[in-house]
Amino acid sequence: MLYSMLGAAEGQQPKLDELTPRQIVAELDKYIVGQTEAKRAVAIALRNRIRRQRLAPEIAEEVAPKNILMIGPTGVGKTEIARRLARLANSPFLKVEATKFTEVGYVGRDVESMVRDLVEIAVDMVRMEKLDEVAGKAEINAEERLLDILLPRHGARGDGEQEQMQRTREKLREQLRQGKLDSRMVELEVRERLGPVSFQLIDGGNVLEEIDLNIRDMMSNLMGARPKKRKMRVDEAIDYLISEEEQKLIDMDQVARIAIERVEQSGIIFLDEIDKIAGRESGHGPDVSREGVQRDLLPIIEGTTVNTRYGMIRTDHILFVAAGAFHVSKPSDLIPELQGRFPIRVELKPLSEDDFIKILTEPKNALVKQYTALLETEGVKLSFTDDAVVEIARFAAAVNESTENIGARRLHTIMEALLEEISFEAPDLRRKKIVVDAEYVRKMLADIVKDQDLSRYIL
Ligand SMILES: Nc1ncnc2c1ncn2[C@@H]1O[C@H](COP(=O)(O)OP(=O)(O)OP(=O)(O)O)[C@@H](O)[C@H]1O
Ligand SMILES: [Mg+2]
Repeated sequence: MLYSMLGAAEGQQPKLDELTPRQIVAELDKYIVGQTEAKRAVAIALRNRIRRQRLAPEIAEEVAPKNILMIGPTGVGKTEIARRLARLANSPFLKVEATKFTEVGYVGRDVESMVRDLVEIAVDMVRMEKLDEVAGKAEINAEERLLDILLPRHGARGDGEQEQMQRTREKLREQLRQGKLDSRMVELEVRERLGPVSFQLIDGGNVLEEIDLNIRDMMSNLMGARPKKRKMRVDEAIDYLISEEEQKLIDMDQVARIAIERVEQSGIIFLDEIDKIAGRESGHGPDVSREGVQRDLLPIIEGTTVNTRYGMIRTDHILFVAAGAFHVSKPSDLIPELQGRFPIRVELKPLSEDDFIKILTEPKNALVKQYTALLETEGVKLSFTDDAVVEIARFAAAVNESTENIGARRLHTIMEALLEEISFEAPDLRRKKIVVDAEYVRKMLADIVKDQDLSRYIL
């Protein structure tokens, strides 16, 4: 049976907007080691938005969000913080790389498209919520329609005949629910909807993008209305009918209204790799539009109106969190107006050997847990002794020291190298229990780490 009650209890996620700063930090702690300052800053910024919404409208209008700039070397958790926030967020949340954009007038994506993307996310979010609300009703309606097709209601005359028909109908319903009719064929009137594929070609341009929006709407209005008869299996038919009923039950205008409101009041945009667009000199090639992109960003961050296909969006209260390694450039290389729009600066610290030990073992997605789980699918019980973990952390720190410091990403390369042999042999092993101890770590890694050239390539 393919259809079931949608919207049944999923894993209960804590709602970001209801969490206190302390709770937000605690949630982030489950995945990110250290970096308390950065976690606190985002937690406070988020909480302030809830506080703002409790103010009288006149004051609330005046309270601008305090945008955050996260600065820290590569691989210490900047993007990870954003990613985890996104999972937590029940506010519309978009993470984009600043390098994706080009200055208005050049070929490429203009910065306003990030607001349009955020609105799309919000619309999806609200639509999913509404879907949950109507799912039960849509299923009931779809079932009735399918029964009508399987057993057309021709004008029954006598009471007896009607009763008879009702009984047959109920019997069919029973069989339908048990999936016994799944492979039977039925003919259905379907409305072909346009896939997004046909318009990908002109996606991405500035002007084109807007035309694209309009064309897409137009076309779906024009062509969406053309019904067609199609034969399909009962289980496909019920899925099709459910989604058609859902469309009917959802008021898209209302969805758009709520989505816009949500973006304006609680949208969050995470601008990653902001350091890559720093630099003021206008050179040639890709450099040309860096400063231009920064300039284009200013009004959006400060508050402007962006036209989207769901309506106009005010960006005044959207929270921006920017992040960058600032290896080559410095925050002071950003144009001053942009610097000024990120009043909260937090620095993420380089990670120590002790941090590595924790990162390997503590987070919910810790590497040690990941590899153990992966091998378990092959029936291999992999475990690490404590001193093995210490040893791995030590090697990671040493390689970071002697070559490039790539932060916690080093743990990925080290673990790969360490477990290469086990990963390869696992399916063929006869002894299914493997204990990785400090001795094994040294045996596998010492040679690579000793040879700087080798480690440059492998780790
Ligand atoms: N503090 C940390 N705690 C747990 N895991 C971390 C931490 N820092 C980094 N990692 C892990 O290291 C990897 C890289 O981290 P992340 O993507 O956050 O780096 P980044 O700071 O954004 O670097 P870049 O400047 O290169 O973009 C991720 O897999 C992440 O899980
Ligand atoms: Mg990053």
